[in-house]
Amino acid sequence: MLAPMQKNKSLVLGITAGIAAYKAAELVRLLIKANIDVQVVMTESATQFITPTTMQALSGKPVFVGMWDEGVDNGMPHIELSRNADAILIAPATAEFVAKLLHGRADDLLSTLCLARDCPLLVAPAMNKQMWENPATQRNFKQLAADNIAVLGPGSGEQACGETGDGRMLEATELFAHIEAHFTPKILADKQLLITAGATLEMIDPVRGITNLSSGKMGYAIAQAAANMGAKVTLVSGPTHLPPPHNVAFISVNSAASMYEAVMQNIQNQDVFIGVAAVADYAPTEVAQHKIKKTADTLTLTLHRNKDILAEVAHLPNPPFCVGFAAESEHVVEYAEKKRITKKLALIVANEVTSAMGHDDNQVTLIDDNGNHPLVRAPKSTIATQLLEHITHLL
Ligand code: C5P
Repeated sequence: MLAPMQKNKSLVLGITAGIAAYKAAELVRLLIKANIDVQVVMTESATQFITPTTMQALSGKPVFVGMWDEGVDNGMPHIELSRNADAILIAPATAEFVAKLLHGRADDLLSTLCLARDCPLLVAPAMNKQMWENPATQRNFKQLAADNIAVLGPGSGEQACGETGDGRMLEATELFAHIEAHFTPKILADKQLLITAGATLEMIDPVRGITNLSSGKMGYAIAQAAANMGAKVTLVSGPTHLPPPHNVAFISVNSAASMYEAVMQNIQNQDVFIGVAAVADYAPTEVAQHKIKKTADTLTLTLHRNKDILAEVAHLPNPPFCVGFAAESEHVVEYAEKKRITKKLALIVANEVTSAMGHDDNQVTLIDDNGNHPLVRAPKSTIATQLLEHITHLL
């Protein structure tokens, strides 16, 4: 099984003259880490903001600036560079550069290679709020869509000029998420997925609760990968320290009971339900209205059993394709298979409990009607992609 992101896509990153050029350095680092081949092309003025040496060190390739730079075999960099690219991203894209793009002008290497391209073009605007709001800029950006050029952002917030408003370039992590989604094959287009993630929190009194060590990383990685594959994704999450994935409907809950409610309210029309959350099996029968005082030597809590969300969904009259996770400390595959049968699941993901919780990578075995499919230890984002590819085969 090959993850889509491992096919070594190649991107031309065009940098124009904006202070946000510093964010392009971090973006290149993220792209290279994800195995995306990056060719940096800068305008002459962009080199006033960040040096080609920096970009060359990060991308591992010579950076092109001028029309007559040496280094391209046939001496036609504008054709050669875009011919090898799967996409071109201009980040930051200045108001001037976008105006040039719209008029099909080609007076430097970057604008010429955009004109000569045979691949998608994406631009991430970066400018002061007055420049962004100017009717000319607005007119130009509207026209970009008509020319099939995708606009990423801009964001809003504090600007280098001291003002606050629209026009900021998106952060490197946001741009990376857009590029990752752009390069992912849309194998889940038209599918709806509901996913639970994270731990639950069962309150004892207003300041204390029972929870567990689940970080939410696996569930969030699956939600992001599914959205990148074109699915309509709803993520019901217990408390975590993670930012919500991009392009995903996000529902934040605390207790197992509120997670159950959120799932049941959204289960209709779902094609797939994946229960990744580490749901508390028991919750305090009563939540103290005020903070419990340490007056007695012992304290006894009475807990009641929570509903099994996944099993309830799988036992609905018309259930979606149900996937569970089984974290076990011994007899991992055997116990997971038993759980799959009892809960009536099409697929279960078995892992050893200490190898998974809180870590960025994991080693799992997928178990379905056809048997066991062990996957090699890999980052959770790769496991997520492989799991979703496996689900699409079974669907
Ligand atoms: O039975 P166990 O808790 O080990 O099963 C784990 C699987 O069941 C996970 O997929 C988890 O999300 C789901 N689950 C649930 N509701 C519960 C307990 C577990 O959805 N109350």
